[in-house]
Formats: sequence, C-alpha cells, structure tokens
Amino acid sequence: MREESEVAMIGNVATMALVGVLVAVSLCSCASGAGGEPGGAPPARSLKDAFAGRFHVGAALGGGLFREPGQPTLGLVARQFGTISPENVLKWGPFNPRSRVYNHEGADAFVKFGRRNGMFVVGHVLFWHSQTPDWVFEDSRGKPIGREALLKRMRERVRHVASRYRKHIDAWDVVNEAILDNGKMRKSKWLEVLGDGWIEDAFRIAGEELPRSTKLLYNDYSMTMRGRRDAVVRLVRELKRKKIRIDGVGMQGHWSLGGPRIRDIEKSIVAFHEAGVDVHITELDVDVLPRKAGMWGADVAKRLEGDPTMDPYRDGLPEEMQRKLAKRYADLFGLFLKHSDKIERVTFWGVTDRHSWLNNWPIKGRTNYPLLFDREGRPKPAFDAVINVARDSAEAVKTR
Ligand code: G3I
Repeated sequence: MREESEVAMIGNVATMALVGVLVAVSLCSCASGAGGEPGGAPPARSLKDAFAGRFHVGAALGGGLFREPGQPTLGLVARQFGTISPENVLKWGPFNPRSRVYNHEGADAFVKFGRRNGMFVVGHVLFWHSQTPDWVFEDSRGKPIGREALLKRMRERVRHVASRYRKHIDAWDVVNEAILDNGKMRKSKWLEVLGDGWIEDAFRIAGEELPRSTKLLYNDYSMTMRGRRDAVVRLVRELKRKKIRIDGVGMQGHWSLGGPRIRDIEKSIVAFHEAGVDVHITELDVDVLPRKAGMWGADVAKRLEGDPTMDPYRDGLPEEMQRKLAKRYADLFGLFLKHSDKIERVTFWGVTDRHSWLNNWPIKGRTNYPLLFDREGRPKPAFDAVINVARDSAEAVKTR
C-alpha cells in the first residue's frame, strides 16, 4: 500500500531488532491461550488488524471449508483475515470441466463469503499448465485446435467470470507458473499452440475483459531463483512497453525453515517493484518436514515415495521446532513490514495445518505444520511471533 511508505520506513529499523525477543515471548503467551480462538477466550488479536494499513493478510480456502458443519474454520477466517484466495474452485478444470458445463456452486460461495466479510477477493487462476481440462485444446472430434480457436476459448473464459463476478473479484492470477528456474518458458499446451507470446496474449485478453479496477497478476513459485526473477522482470517491462496491463507479481512463497534466505526474498521484492508493479505474497507456507534434494519449489506434478524418516512429527511438533517456525515467520514478516510500501498482500496457502496441501506433497499422507494455526484452529507460537512483530513495528513508529 503505497501511501504508507513513510510509516514503513520508520518501522523497519525497530522491527528487525525486536524479532528475536518476540519469539520467546510468543511461546509462553500461546501456552496461556492468550491468542484465544475456537474453544479458547474471545479472540484477542487478529492478523488483519495487526497489519491494517500495511498490507492485506489472508488465506487460501479449500472448497471443503464450506461443507464443514457449523463452518468453524470460516469463522476463524472472518475474524483473522482480510483477503481470501480460492485453493481450487476457480481453476479451469474444477470450474468448467466440460465445454459449456460449469460448477458455479463452490466459486459462488467463495466470492459471496468474501463480499459478506468485506474482504479483498482474489481469483486463482485463469491460465495454468495444471488442472486445465484437455477439451480446452481440442475440437469436438478430439483434434488439437489452432491459435485463433484457443484465443477465442481464453476470451470466453475471462468473459464468463467477468460477467458472473464483475467487481466482486479484486485481483486475478492471470497466468501461473509459466517460467522455469532458469528463466526459460515452461513447456505447455499454451506454449505449443500460441508460442512464446502466450503470456502477452493472456494479459491482453484479461485487460480487455476484466474491470479496470481488477488487479492483474503474474504468479509463480521459487521467485528468488535468479533466472526466473530476471525473466519475470523482463516480462513486466515488455508488457508495460506494449501498454498491456499488468499490476502485480505474485511470489507464491512455498518456503521452508532453511530457505530461501531473507536477503534473496528481499532482492526479488525490490526487483519486481522497481519494474513498476506491486508485489503479492500469494501462497505462503513454511514446510517443517525433511525433504530430499531437488524437491523444492511447488511443482504439483513432482511426487516422492515416503518413509518414516520423512515424517518425524506424526505425534506433534516439538517445542524446538515451534520456536524455529516462529522465528522464521517473524523474520519473514519483519521483511514484509520493511517493504510494506511495495507489498499489497500476504496470503497463506491454507488456514490451519490440517488443511495444508503440504500434508500430501511431495509425499502423500504426512503430518506437516506449515501455518500459524494448529489442526484445531488454535494459534501457534508462530502466530504470536507474527502479531508481536506487527505490534512492535507500530510501537516503533509511535515512539519516534
Ligand atoms: O475434487 C477432487 C475430488 O472430487 C476427488 O475425489 C479427489 C481425489 O483425487 O481429487 C479432488 O481434486 C483434488 C483437488 O486438489 C481438490 O482437493 C486434486 O486431486 C488435487 O490435485 C488438487 O490439489 C491442488 C493442487 O494445487 C493441484 O494442482 C491443491 O489442493 C492445491 O493446494 C494446489 O495449489 C497450487 C496452486 O494452485 C498453485 N501453486 C502451487 C500450489 C500447491 O501445489
């Protein structure tokens, strides 16, 4: 949020210095249930309030949350978050599985929930190499279609969501994960049929069909990788040179306790902002489980066979690991506050540890703890550490 830059600048010096102290405090306050969520005392603190005026804080919602009896997790979402993203219901496959056949129910419930709670509602994702049905690229006889026919289908998709949800969706991930770690284009049916300029085609169509107020984003993972970062900066500059609208870059943020380094994340935030767009942290989570080499990023197609050593915390996350997770999140949010003039929102990919995709990726059926709320929806030490970073950053501003 650009107008807050002066506040951000003052905040960052104090913020970074206080991070360490806050972690220790958070561990004891959590034990006392001070965070107070389902089953505990009324909520004492909320993420959306703690970062109000700095950036939106939110979560991705799986369709299953709307089917939970009494919808307790949606209650937690309404109390804690100011922005929501759809984990699956607006992707081409789940939303439009066959030509002229739509599953509107899940998407309608998602958008309505966001409106009812005055949230910044995100659409994910218009065009992606995954979860896109084969019929999109074939004619009625199953033969591959050509450029013009595919561009027509892309426009129909955008026109359909634009007419159904209009200004009720505040931002769209227009294209997701089209660039590789080395900066080259990912091989996909989009690239095959439309060629190297397919991302431009996608943004041109989105800019022509969606409301001017709807933010248009390019979204990807491993955005600290130099090849990908530089290629995305070139993409932004090229779109702007051609007067094709792009408003933001989404850094997914599927990170771990050990990486990427804060300074590498900072480099990317600054590089994208200098290219003239806002930065959105779109799918934040911190994996605490062991991984084998080469198993980073978030390529859903990658899978690994598991063994007990890869799933060490089935019976609970040890306090030492809770401490490490709290420190990691405090460092990340310290950085986000330092650059809150460049960052529009920070969205967690899931609400509680129970809902996280990281329980099933890259190994199915593990017990992971990547988010701020535990499987019962109770705030973890990491939640308190993040809240404390915001509070002390605000204090630092006040005391100047
Ligand atoms: O809905 C069907 C259900 O009918 C069927 O019974 C079940 C059994 O296979 O599958 C269900 O679909 C699953 C869907 O999630 C809804 O739960 C798909 O198999 C499963 O592949 C899909 O996983 C999603 C994944 O994207 C797919 O690509 C994850 O929930 C979602 O968290 C993940 O999110 C991606 C972002 O979109 C892009 N960035 C990386 C991120 C993590 O992979």
